[in-house]
Amino acid sequence: MVGKKKEKITPLKDKVIYTEEQLQYNLYLDDLKKELYENLDTLEPSSFIGIKEFEKVTTIGMGTYGRVDLVKHTKNKTLHAMKIMSKLYIMQTQQLQHVLSERRLLSCINFPFIIHHDFTFKDNDYIYYVMPFIPGGDLYHQLKKEGPFGEDLTKFYAVQIYFAIEFLHHCDIIHRDVKLENLLVCANGYIKLTDLGFSKIIVDRTYTFCGTPEYLAPEIILAKGYGKSVDWWALGVLLYEMTVGKSPFASTQTIICLEKIVKCRYSKEEIESPELQNLIDKLIQVDLSKRLGNLVNGCLDIKNHAWFKDISFKDVSLQVFESPRKPTVLNEEDTKNFDSFEDVYMPSTDLVLYESEFSQF
Ligand SMILES: Nc1ncnc2c1ncn2[C@@H]1O[C@H](COP(=O)(O)OP(=O)(O)O)[C@@H](O)[C@H]1O
Ligand SMILES: [Mg+2]
Repeated sequence: MVGKKKEKITPLKDKVIYTEEQLQYNLYLDDLKKELYENLDTLEPSSFIGIKEFEKVTTIGMGTYGRVDLVKHTKNKTLHAMKIMSKLYIMQTQQLQHVLSERRLLSCINFPFIIHHDFTFKDNDYIYYVMPFIPGGDLYHQLKKEGPFGEDLTKFYAVQIYFAIEFLHHCDIIHRDVKLENLLVCANGYIKLTDLGFSKIIVDRTYTFCGTPEYLAPEIILAKGYGKSVDWWALGVLLYEMTVGKSPFASTQTIICLEKIVKCRYSKEEIESPELQNLIDKLIQVDLSKRLGNLVNGCLDIKNHAWFKDISFKDVSLQVFESPRKPTVLNEEDTKNFDSFEDVYMPSTDLVLYESEFSQF
């Protein structure tokens, strides 16, 4: 006996429904992506020297790699931040690929919520990134100085971080180091994401273990291969940090911090609003099939989340929304929002170091 042929059930494929406004915005992102890849195709290596065109005002950042100075263009009198990195340090720490990738991306990106390079140079010992000077300092220093931001300010910053990540992902770029130190406050109170040192163009998955412990998504720690949704996890960590005032997974020992992340162990008591709690829960979500930003509607699930219902993404995108807080900047050379640093000697040699390795820089 032949049984009745079973009817084949094809699951209804979820379909993303875009509003007219979102369709327009996606077209804008498409244009930016096209422009970015055209710029990448025609990018020339940096010129040798060029540093002589700038005079140093003061140092605003210091690291093992070198330092960040506030500089003035001698002819145009324009102010810039100049990040100086030692070639020797880059080679010793095996950061060459990261530096080359950051230089390419930041020389070609043109997006309001991400920093860009005005110029890049190299000489015998160092490489130089010249960027617009962002006078309000970074959000890490702001949080340390002023305490938790409160929901309105956090929401305003979150929308801009959302835009920066959405843009990068649209261009097939994963950032991998979205954190308070890498968000700079402009004079008008708006922010820019910086430091694309760990950013990478990816089509699918990647495996490199990199980032900052407190912000690492569990799939990076578990070395399973990961994708763009690690940046949305980082947004969840940032939302928590900005409103509660400390990292959800903070620990003096990195191993304990990583353990807490993998087990998703953090205290939820200090998050006041239930809607924010809900959004954080869905971003700091170990299960990738449940993490917002990684579902069928992509990042639109974040944009459409109830916590954002009282802020206009469009107004923030057009920068017509009044920032809830503006940095105090007394004049254009004011560096009060940065730590102060002693002048350090940066040795130089008569030989061109690592000429072939940096030929594409
Ligand atoms: N364009 C800029 N304007 C003002 N400050 C900047 C600028 N770029 C970097 N800084 C400051 O220098 C710090 C380090 O820069 P960053 O590019 O993040 O380098 P890294 O984290 O690799 O040391 C930032 O956290 C910020 O405080
Ligand atoms: Mg940084």
